[in-house]
Amino acid sequence: MAAYAGLFRVALVLIAAAATWAAALDDPAGLLRRAKEAEFMDWMVGVRRRIHENPELGYEEFATSELVRRELDAMGIPYRHPFAVTGVVATVGTGGPPFVALRADMDALPMQESVEWEHKSKVPGKMHGCGHDAHVAMLLGSARILQEHRDELKGTVALLFQPAEEGGGGAKKMVEAGAVENIEVMFGLHVADSVPIGVLASRPGPIMAGSGFFEAVISGKGGHAALPHHTIDPILAASNVIVSLQQLVSREADPLDSQVVTVGKFQGGGAFNVIPDSVTIGGTFRAFLKESFNQLKQRIEEVIVTQASVQRCSAVVDFLDKDKPFFPPTINNPELHDFFAKVGSEMVGPNNVREKQPLMGAEDFSFYTEAVPKTYYYFVGMLNETRGPQAPHHSPYFTINEDTLPYGVAMQASLAARYLLEHQPVTAAKVEPRDEL
Ligand SMILES: *[C@@H]1O[C@H](CO)[C@@H](O)[C@H](O)[C@H]1NC(C)=O
Ligand SMILES: [Zn+2]
Ligand SMILES: [Zn+2]
Repeated sequence: MAAYAGLFRVALVLIAAAATWAAALDDPAGLLRRAKEAEFMDWMVGVRRRIHENPELGYEEFATSELVRRELDAMGIPYRHPFAVTGVVATVGTGGPPFVALRADMDALPMQESVEWEHKSKVPGKMHGCGHDAHVAMLLGSARILQEHRDELKGTVALLFQPAEEGGGGAKKMVEAGAVENIEVMFGLHVADSVPIGVLASRPGPIMAGSGFFEAVISGKGGHAALPHHTIDPILAASNVIVSLQQLVSREADPLDSQVVTVGKFQGGGAFNVIPDSVTIGGTFRAFLKESFNQLKQRIEEVIVTQASVQRCSAVVDFLDKDKPFFPPTINNPELHDFFAKVGSEMVGPNNVREKQPLMGAEDFSFYTEAVPKTYYYFVGMLNETRGPQAPHHSPYFTINEDTLPYGVAMQASLAARYLLEHQPVTAAKVEPRDEL
């Protein structure tokens, strides 16, 4: 009896294995079907939920990084670690050129999750409120598919698990640590609350804004509120500074070149009848073109200093780029846009590959844009109206539609594999495997 049961199980495993291998690597729709298989989904959803329960902030993703490495070990995929404290770079394929990279970010946000569910964050005040838990699960899924087809790969795929996307510039540190040396092309994705499930969306050119922060201390001379002539009032000066800053975009920027200057911090004083010595203001500025970004930065400093001087105050401006590095704009290579549209159409049909408006949010994927010859960033839809409304990213009610996972998995794997196939070196037959990754 037992022997028969054993044989039966072996037969089932063989049948399952045959089904697994049925999809060729160069078949985006086939890879999507593979990623949707129940066992594959269960594994991936399990990984995502484990990460969701234990969210870690930027540069503290120790348990997440450990989980990633254990899953890679289980798949027999080699990796290097650490990059930028917790980062992991795994490789699948020949070890030789061409070299393509895929990226996932691992960090959570310092916020409290408000949704009650079985796998709610177990860490008070920390939450995967942007979906990076899903990104890690997806990239492990892509790794698994690529590993299943490793003999078909015509080059090397590097899988980057990076720390600290949310303001920490983890990508910048990954680049500085050498994680993208030799990489010719790189793809990044984000799950999107506003894009329908099954849809892939992006655009050629700028897709996410460049972003910087500033803080200024405006100093006068404090004193009694009833004797303003004995004081130099920094509250009035700071108020005029803020109004003047609002004229940078409305009067100096090309109306067709979207930009933002927002003052989000205004601190100073504390009593109704005291004029304080100084006031601190701070904010952020955004632009899609590097020149516009640099122009804004220069003018913000000039306006703060000179406008403060109108009310006899002095001002010191700090762009905080030691702690909060400027994020360059994320610019999609136009040639890769056509490539994305072609591969995406084969996977989800041409009607489900859509043009996306650029977003004023910033993404540290832009550091790869600056370091890698060709990069492309796109969105994977999560919105399924039959399941009800989808709370936005960074909301305490944010949730992941786990049905989205296979789309990201299959698209990243397909983009990487197809790119290698279409970009064989002229002497492909003679290339010796190199050990550069
Ligand atoms: C949308 O949600 C419904 C209800 O949960 C589900 O039956 C359907 O398969 C979902 N659609 C997609 C594309 O995942
Ligand atoms: Zn975010
Ligand atoms: Zn994010």
